[in-house]
Amino acid sequence: MKYVLGIDLGTSSLKGVLVNPSGTVVAEHSVTYPLLTPKPGFSEQDPQDWLHACDVVFEELKSKVDDFTENLEGISFSGQMHSLVILDEEKSILRPAILWNDTRTSQQCREIMAHFGKEMLQITKNKAFEGFTLPKILWLQENEPEIWERACYIQLPKDYLRFYLTDKLNMDYSDAAGTLLLDVNNRCWSDAVRKQFKLDKLRFPQLVPSGACVGCLKQSIKEKFGFKQDVKVFAGGADNACAALGAGVLQSDVGLCSVGTSGVFLSLESRDDIDYEGKLHLFNHVIADANYSMGVTLAAGSSLNWFRDTFAKGMDFSLLLRDIKTVPPGSEGLLFAPYIVGERMPYADSTIRGSFVGIDVHHRLQHFTRAVIEGITFSLKDLLTIMETAKQKKFTKIISVGGAAKNTDWLQIQADIFNSTVVSLKTEQGPALGAAILAAVGVDWFSSLEEAVEAFVSYKKCFQPIPENVAAYQRSYSRYCKLYPALKSIIDS
Ligand code: XUL
Repeated sequence: MKYVLGIDLGTSSLKGVLVNPSGTVVAEHSVTYPLLTPKPGFSEQDPQDWLHACDVVFEELKSKVDDFTENLEGISFSGQMHSLVILDEEKSILRPAILWNDTRTSQQCREIMAHFGKEMLQITKNKAFEGFTLPKILWLQENEPEIWERACYIQLPKDYLRFYLTDKLNMDYSDAAGTLLLDVNNRCWSDAVRKQFKLDKLRFPQLVPSGACVGCLKQSIKEKFGFKQDVKVFAGGADNACAALGAGVLQSDVGLCSVGTSGVFLSLESRDDIDYEGKLHLFNHVIADANYSMGVTLAAGSSLNWFRDTFAKGMDFSLLLRDIKTVPPGSEGLLFAPYIVGERMPYADSTIRGSFVGIDVHHRLQHFTRAVIEGITFSLKDLLTIMETAKQKKFTKIISVGGAAKNTDWLQIQADIFNSTVVSLKTEQGPALGAAILAAVGVDWFSSLEEAVEAFVSYKKCFQPIPENVAAYQRSYSRYCKLYPALKSIIDS
């Protein structure tokens, strides 16, 4: 049997998924690693932990699959986006990686947008957000001059892991797009950004497409794990782009809706034909010559977690959600605004906060639970609406992954609120499967990503919008849209 390996270097764990040519996941293994929070708002990781996790995944797969080391043909990657890995002249790590969910860079973001905002939007198609890479580099310049003095190379997490496996320093376009250093339309590092922020001393890695073979596993790694043959290593891409590929999102009228800690709505965009002017992220895709737009609502799954931990502590989610079906769409007038940690999109506002509105004496736990789920889904609808309006299109199908996809009532709520067919996946392997698909096409098992998706991705259940629920939700959504401005005026007062 032949295999490819998709590796997802996530925020809490590294996951390896071993797949054969018929698309069957033969084995998988995950290894967790710690998040370091040396100060409030700081979020860091030791890159050595990622490398160690990868070693453990190799060892585990070796012990689970007899012919793993003989028959592995290719490896590709998906990775947490934006997180800064900084290397010296000798390509040694200078400090812990500063992660995408670190919030120390608000000041740097304000300065970028104040002095270079228009150009930034034009070149990188994105506004500066705390999570992105450039603000982290500026923070380093200002706050750790002794590290900055020695800084020579930048990498993103999965690129650094690939460097460990191959000795080659590269970055693919999909991840480079999240640095705020890439000219997204022209697919090159931006000289204007480099000049504006005095980054001349940094050597930016060579840019490659996600499907590019950057080399083979280096000799020392082959010896360490007993690989006899050459194993091709492909560039891979940003986790959100890989998740879209791994969910089979290959057309612009098919959306991806993902409910994790945060919520993501993602759409394929043909290259260069749209500019959201920073209202949504626009990044290069792992699919050659395509882009994708992505909206992020900050507290999706985390709103439900917060609600459960505060009002139904210890209750299992399946029990918490069991009775939401007894509450009609619109939760009998109860609305929830999910801005409990501020918001990223559609309102870039770190000071806004959430709210329940319309509490009635007869509302019970199931009303509040349903209202939370509806509020999260309305916030995702905000993102979908920006995409549909800008492109004058209608999503004909939305692939739902993450927390919402585990609950059939929530899936139906999504279909009714999005007014679109919603589909869940048979097995969710997440971004690691997208990475495996890139490797499978790279080793020529398939002649296109479409063919590989056909073999690797299968769907479970399809939820159709129910007309009377759609109508009820149109009314609730128009009330929901009034929440942000109302809350804003209260919070700012
Ligand atoms: C995207 C983002 C996150 C990370 C998580 O802009 O910040 O989704 O990619 O890994």
